[in-house]
Amino acid sequence: MNIHIISVVPELLESPFNHSILKRAKERGLLNVVVHNLRKWSINKHNQIDDYQYGGGAGMVIMCEPLVNAIEELQKDTKFDEIIYVTPDGETYNQQITNQLSLKDNILIICGHYKGIDQRIRDHYVTKEISIGDYVLSGGELAAAILVDSIGRLIPGVLNDETSALTDSFQDNLLAPPVYTRPAEFKGWKVPDILLTGDPKKVEDWRYEQSLERTKTRRPDLLDDDGI
Ligand code: ADE
Repeated sequence: MNIHIISVVPELLESPFNHSILKRAKERGLLNVVVHNLRKWSINKHNQIDDYQYGGGAGMVIMCEPLVNAIEELQKDTKFDEIIYVTPDGETYNQQITNQLSLKDNILIICGHYKGIDQRIRDHYVTKEISIGDYVLSGGELAAAILVDSIGRLIPGVLNDETSALTDSFQDNLLAPPVYTRPAEFKGWKVPDILLTGDPKKVEDWRYEQSLERTKTRRPDLLDDDGI
């Protein structure tokens, strides 16, 4: 999968993809992330990419011209399956959207800054608008990093234990059950006996009950009306 990102502050995206699972994805040739500095397409010698908003009001808006030039230049080499704008007024991101995006080959993510990007880019180029939650970041870069991380780990071959993504929280709309590792007792705190029985069916049933219980108490909104 190829993910291109257009950003005004590419420095913010220097580190997140060079460690741990995403680093492995890159080394295995499964994920290629390219960050582009929008200023490469600035409209004058002052490196301008933004301007005041029509109608007045505080905050600058990223202009059409540099964005169109950036997008169209990238489109010459790549046919993007999705052009995503990360923005607080987009659709709230969740695991279902992550799953869908992990099936794509080429994604372009546009990061906003200041007051955002000119609406005409959203109207004519953007195919999906995503918010990572009901709060406002100072730019879209951290949101883009969250998208890349959550999508990248789902690409087949990226995680060593293929089943582990399937047992994540939110797959099946349930939160993940509690997990324990050695020792079986620490400071008198014991691991639930059932996990030590070696009986896979009992363990699976226990995990399902724990997931359900956790979801009921912490995120009842994830369950159907009849509690699944
Ligand atoms: N840019 C600023 N805030 C954001 C948010 N909550 N989600 C996505 N992009 C953003």
